[in-house]
Amino acid sequence: MREAHLEAPRIPNVIIGHVGTTHENLRNGSPVVAIDGPVASGKSTVGRVAAEQLGLRFLDTGIMYRAVTWLALHQHENVDDAEAMERLAECCDISLDCERSGALLVVNHQSLTSDDLASADVDRSVSAVAANSAVRRALVAQQRSLAAAGGIVMAGRDIGSVVVPDADVKMYIDASPEVRARRRFKQQLESGISADYQQVLADTLRRDRLDSERADSPLIVPDGAIVINTERMNLSESVAAVVFAIRTATGAASACAAPGG
Ligand code: DC
Repeated sequence: MREAHLEAPRIPNVIIGHVGTTHENLRNGSPVVAIDGPVASGKSTVGRVAAEQLGLRFLDTGIMYRAVTWLALHQHENVDDAEAMERLAECCDISLDCERSGALLVVNHQSLTSDDLASADVDRSVSAVAANSAVRRALVAQQRSLAAAGGIVMAGRDIGSVVVPDADVKMYIDASPEVRARRRFKQQLESGISADYQQVLADTLRRDRLDSERADSPLIVPDGAIVINTERMNLSESVAAVVFAIRTATGAASACAAPGG
């Protein structure tokens, strides 16, 4: 396995890592890119824009856990009841179309909007659902089949560690809890939701703890991941860092470049 040492001199605060680059997908310009990171690290926004620039599909796997949670709440199931969640996962039919602009999600024949998936009720319960091993097994199987065709950027908590540990490029996007909470706080104010920064920070820390302390597939920095700290970066600097890392790691700047990208 060849190791690429990345240098990104014009991009501030990029922590350099190592990545293997021998996968077949690199040669046909259809890499599988895994992006993990904690809540509000920017992995989904940055991953989506980077995928667009590189002409790759994008999947935010968090919406799949949110969809199962929505279904459980819709069916008045107790999300802490492991057996009920297991039954739900077994008969839960999620179909999604993760073309470049994002994913259209249909669960048991009902189309879900981003408002359904981001509701406060789903927010409160999704960590419990994501900790259920039967739910994870069902969703990871779907995520692997979506990755099998290549040409995709997938964002989540366990993508590089569990879903596609042999991804062509693995990244971990990070920032301090305070900066991530400030981003979420600002987003909520911009969407007209009244918010309290201390409350948002407490919720960010709570979700970090749940994600990293759960027994099944906890959030970790995957082996071989490039760690990008977006603490002092704005969106376009973060996208530039991710696109740079993908192009460098795949050694295929032209192979996966979108026209004009
Ligand atoms: O990224 P998000 O906040 O939309 O994720 C929703 C929940 O799903 C959160 O509790 C983390 C969990 N999740 C996970 O466990 N594994 C993934 N690959 C993606 C999300």
